[in-house]
Parts: sequence; structure tokens; C-alpha cells
Amino acid sequence: MSEKSIFPSRFLFYLITISMFLLILSSVFLLEFSSSSFIPRSVFKLILLNRTSVYLKPNIKSEQIELPFLSSVAKTPMNSGEVACQRSSSGKEKIGSFGQQKRKNCDPSQALLRVYMYDLPPEFHFGLMGWKGKANETWPDVSKPSQIPPYAGGLNLQHSMEYWLTLDLLSSNTANFGRPCSAIRVKNSSQADVIFVPFFSSLSYNRHSKVHGKEKISVNKMLQKKLVQFLEDQDEWKRSGGHDHIIVAHHPNSMVDARNKLGSAMFVLADFGRYPTEIANIEKDIIAPYMHVVRTIPSGESLPFEKRPILVYFQGAIYRKDGGVIRQELYYLLKDEKDVHFAFGSIRGDGVKTAGQGMASSKFCLNIAGDTPSSNRLFDAIASHCVPVIISDEIELPYEDVLDYSEFCITINSSDAVKKGFLLYLLRGIKQDQWTKMWERLKEIVHYFQYQYPSQPGDAVDMIWHAVSHKASSIRFKIHRQNRYSRSQLMVNSKFNEKSH
Ligand SMILES: *[C@@H]1O[C@H](CO)[C@@H](O)[C@H](O)[C@H]1NC(C)=O
Ligand SMILES: *[C@@H]1O[C@H](CO)[C@@H](O)[C@H](O)[C@H]1NC(C)=O
Ligand SMILES: *[C@@H]1O[C@H](CO)[C@@H](O)[C@H](O)[C@H]1NC(C)=O
Ligand SMILES: *[C@@H]1O[C@H](CO)[C@@H](O)[C@H](O)[C@H]1NC(C)=O
Repeated sequence: MSEKSIFPSRFLFYLITISMFLLILSSVFLLEFSSSSFIPRSVFKLILLNRTSVYLKPNIKSEQIELPFLSSVAKTPMNSGEVACQRSSSGKEKIGSFGQQKRKNCDPSQALLRVYMYDLPPEFHFGLMGWKGKANETWPDVSKPSQIPPYAGGLNLQHSMEYWLTLDLLSSNTANFGRPCSAIRVKNSSQADVIFVPFFSSLSYNRHSKVHGKEKISVNKMLQKKLVQFLEDQDEWKRSGGHDHIIVAHHPNSMVDARNKLGSAMFVLADFGRYPTEIANIEKDIIAPYMHVVRTIPSGESLPFEKRPILVYFQGAIYRKDGGVIRQELYYLLKDEKDVHFAFGSIRGDGVKTAGQGMASSKFCLNIAGDTPSSNRLFDAIASHCVPVIISDEIELPYEDVLDYSEFCITINSSDAVKKGFLLYLLRGIKQDQWTKMWERLKEIVHYFQYQYPSQPGDAVDMIWHAVSHKASSIRFKIHRQNRYSRSQLMVNSKFNEKSH
């Protein structure tokens, strides 16, 4: 063979090798960026929520090591949903891009929100779930996921935002943790925008309301009493009159004893159903989503319009006191319809899976007022990509400053909903293309309702911090207004008193 004929074939060989290599490389990158991270989010959750799971334990160590690396590599947002979200609506752009820009380097002076957290003793937080630190240890070491005590399981999880928010603050001082730089914990309260009170009030209500043995009052009552005393003694509380304090009281029955005394604080709540307006209102408080109990349907598995055989789905307790009368009325209106699933029974245990499957096979999911205006059903529907139909006049919705619920929810006045034939006429009138638009939007916003650790840009924890920061300027306004006379009065008083003596 002459040299001339060898050269092109060798050249061709190199060319093919190089292009194959590039092809493989690019597909690897594509895969990485389209999924949330190297580690699926669900694995993380499993580890945290259930440490008894043996198979997952070996992974924990490698995850820890990979985490900082991960955050520097995965500069793209969490999932494809978020990308779509950022592009499609300007309102949300700030949040997504915010998290992205500041992810590598969370400098306290750059953080959206500087938060001072009281070092309350463990009996107020992790101690409630049986965590015992070493002597004098107030917090678990959050840099080691294996050492983080899991929150109580089952329906307790609905109100677990107290846990996720506290974990996020604790991790905010760990370098390169790969969380968004929305809230950062500062050690000096004078430098803080807000003061976080780490009391797990919902868990305290759910797990410690019973009076045992010789106790005069329950642990839940005792802790609330102690908390009020503690707060009223703090300079931070006195300085602001409590206006800049954040108290999480998501379970409607949590903090019942203390809420009236602490009403100046900003509450993180499910709704205002059981609060007088002067204690809790939309001006000063934050509505946080329930943590959904059904699993999030991956976008790829979500069934389109024609594959959802059930028109309307509702599963829940039907006979409710207070605002819940409407459930009965709707039950009698809908029970005989063929494509309507309207059934008794709250969802527990095995029922969660069935309910999840039911919602994922339904076009519309009803969220009807019960004994409180809100319930986790709305968030279960969102996680199942089932278009929520809200029939609850008193409901308040999370992040309504950012989200336009009419894009993916149908809200019906309850006086209309109980008119014979109204609901079905309305829902049957929503055609495939209209429904599909709402379904697409649901898939884009579903991650706003995801609680997880470490927090990610645009998830529930991040969104709650954003909501708090939106209120921060009105908090400052209140504090300044309240202090308007205080300084001059101090000066005048001391001089005036000197003179008169
Ligand atoms: C715990 O705190 C007490 C009082 O502040 C101190 O005397 C003791 O040495 C501390 N123990 C440990 C193990 O740090
Ligand atoms: C944790 O895992 C164990 C064993 O896999 C299981 O029996 C238990 O129900 C799980 N607990 C929770 C809260 O999921
Ligand atoms: C806390 O911050 C304030 C204001 O920046 C400062 O005057 C004070 O000395 C700081 N306190 C501590 C203990 O560092
Ligand atoms: C619901 O409709 C009734 C009667 O049409 C009306 O009086 C009421 O204000 C409406 N409520 C809301 C929340 O729109």
C-alpha cells in the first residue's frame, strides 16, 4: 500500500473515534441536566425519613462526599419543570435565577434573608422526636445526613415544614452545601432581618398532647408556656415587640395556648380558620403548603386527558363539623354519577397509595372545605397532576404573590357548587385543550410544593423564605413606626429629669 492511501483511512479512523467520544460525552451531559442531579431526590428523602432502610445506608457516605461537587456541577436548575417555569412566566424568573446565581457562594451579606435562630433546648425541637444529643449539644450535625433524626412518619408529615425550615437554617452555615442562598443563619441577632423560633409546634401537638401519669399538664402545654416566658424575656422580642419573629404553627390545633400572647409574630400557617383576625391575617402571616402524602408523579408518567378515566375524584371524611356541611351536599349530588369517584374515609396507610393512583387517573380532584378551610388534599392533587377544584370560600393559598392559581386550579364559590348540576356542567364543559394547558402548568409548578433536604432553588423551603422576605419590609416598617418616639423620649426624659432634680 502506498502512503497516500493509508493516510486518509487513518485520518478517518481518528475522526470517527473523536466524534464517537464527543457524542457519548454530550449524551452524558444531557442525561445529567435533564434529571435533577446524580442522586434522585426520592433517594434522599428515603434516607432522611426512614433510616431503618438498610439498603440505603451505604449510599449516605458517598452522597456526602459528592454533594459539594454536585452543587458546583449542577448549575442548571433542579429539573426540566423549573426550566420551563422560568421561561414561561416572568413572575417566577426571579426565584429560579436567584437560586442559580448565588448557589456556589452563599455570602451572608448577599443572602436574601438573614435569620437569627434561638438556640432553644432540644425539648422544643429534635428532642420531640426522641433525639438526644451529646452533653450540651443543641442541634444534630446536619452535615451528616445519617445523623439527622427523621421526622415522625405517616400523617404527621403533612405539617413537617417546621423541620425542613430548621434543617435548612442549620445547614446554611455549612460551606458548599448546594442549597439556595435564600436564607442564611446569622449568629448576631442585631444583624438579622428576622428571628426564627425553632419550636416544632405541630409535632408537639400531634405527639405530646396527652397527659401522662403524674403530669399535671401535657408536654405540649408545658412547652408553649415555657416558650411564651422565654420569648417575653428576650431582648430580641422586646426590641421589636415580636414583629420580626417567625413562629411555625402549621397544624390548626398547634400553639392554641400560646398563640394569643404571641400574635404580633409572623406565623407560618395552613390557613386562618381557627384564628381571630387580629392574631393571624394575610397582612403579616405566611401560608405554607402541606407536605403532600401521595408520591409526586414524575412528569413522564403523568397521564394525559384521554388516559384519565375518572372525571372527578374525592376521597375524604364526608361528615364534618363547621364548614364541612358542603361535603354532604356534594356527596348527594354526585354519588350516582358514573365517572365520579366520591368516597368516604380518610387516607391512611394503604389508602395513601390507592388515593395517589386514583388522583393520578382523574382529570379533576375536589378540594372541599372540611373542618378547616385547607387540607393536604389540594397538595396531593397537585403532586398527582390532577387539576384541583377548590370549593372552600375561606381558603388561603401558599405563595399567591408569585403564583396565579387560576392557571392550574378551578375555584368555585360554594354557593354555586351546591346548585344541582352546576359542578358537572362546568367540569364537563372544560375541553381537552383547556385541561391540557392546566395540566402542563401543574407539571411546571409542582416543585414549589416539594419539601426536601438539602433545599433546592424553587422548592417549598426556598419559596417560604422568599415569602418571608416579601414581608420583611413591612416588618421593618412596623418596628420603626413603633419606635418612632422611643429614642427622643429617652433623651428628653433623662435630661428633663436631670434639670428638675
Ligand atoms: C456543659 O455546660 C456546662 C455549663 O455551661 C459546663 O459546665 C460543662 O462543662 C459542659 N459540658 C460539656 C461536655 O461541654
Ligand atoms: C421504614 O422502613 C421499615 C422497613 O423497611 C418499615 O417497616 C417502616 O414502616 C418504615 N417507616 C416509615 C415511616 O416509612
Ligand atoms: C452584633 O452586631 C452589632 C451591630 O452590627 C454590633 O454592634 C455588636 O457588637 C455585635 N455583637 C456581637 C456579640 O458581635
Ligand atoms: C359566592 O356567591 C354568593 C352568591 O352569588 C355571593 O354572595 C358571595 O359573595 C360569593 N362569594 C365569593 C367568595 O365570591
